[in-house]
Amino acid sequence: MKIVKEIDQNILNDEICLIPTMGALHEGHLSLIKKGKESGLSTMVTIFINELQFDSKEDFSNYPSKIEDDIKTLDNLDIDYLFIPENNYIYPDSGFEKIDSGPIGKKFEGNSRPGHFDGMLTVVNRLFQLTLPKIAIFGKKDAQQLFLIKEMVNKKNYPIKIIEGLTVRDNLGLALSSRNLLLSKYGEEKARLINQILNHSKKEFCEKKDLNIFKKLKSYYSDGDIEIDYLAIVDPETFGDPLEKTENYIIIIAAYIENIRLIDNIEFKLERV
Ligand code: PAF
Repeated sequence: MKIVKEIDQNILNDEICLIPTMGALHEGHLSLIKKGKESGLSTMVTIFINELQFDSKEDFSNYPSKIEDDIKTLDNLDIDYLFIPENNYIYPDSGFEKIDSGPIGKKFEGNSRPGHFDGMLTVVNRLFQLTLPKIAIFGKKDAQQLFLIKEMVNKKNYPIKIIEGLTVRDNLGLALSSRNLLLSKYGEEKARLINQILNHSKKEFCEKKDLNIFKKLKSYYSDGDIEIDYLAIVDPETFGDPLEKTENYIIIIAAYIENIRLIDNIEFKLERV
């Protein structure tokens, strides 16, 4: 594994499969890397904690950083490149494009974390322009992020294939996330409720076929341990409200546990009779 801070022509001579991360790697990232290796291209993992996508300085400075552990983990995985850029390489004083995430980027996560998706797309666009990947891999846990990245790739006509990695969960259903490291044991237990809420919401929706149940479920589940920011259902094609013709659905949730913001989702098809 070659660790690089900058991208040179030698690297660009390879066909790159890019796996962008902010580090504090867990099994979810490792499953994305496994997919990357299956592509047969040169795999490049990036670790860059992108300040632009944090809406508060506190959240940015609390974000877990485990660079030494990450390097050890990646060393055993036989990837080709680990790209750890400096901030001023990604964001020079001038000459990089700030991306506007548009109307979908202002909803849900974007509504609660203003500027988050503009910052996320800006760094992803920058990474794409610097590394010119043939393939890039992102996890489905960040469903809205994935939607916006695919939208940007389409709009900009980039010849990049986006591969989606399934959400990895622990054996009690908690979606793996670097932010889980910030939870106490008790908080981790409470965080397992998130997946249960999603499964219960799916069951209720499939039975009642009523788009209004989510408000009730949100207040039903909110208590002292879990504060639900949003619980909503969207059409994965548009990330907007489901329509009469919608067949596939995603229920998305964001909740605070011990002041840590966690997100998750469940995707399903509604069988019509
Ligand atoms: O999902 C993440 O870890 C980040 O949002 C990403 C895509 C690496 C951009 O900073």
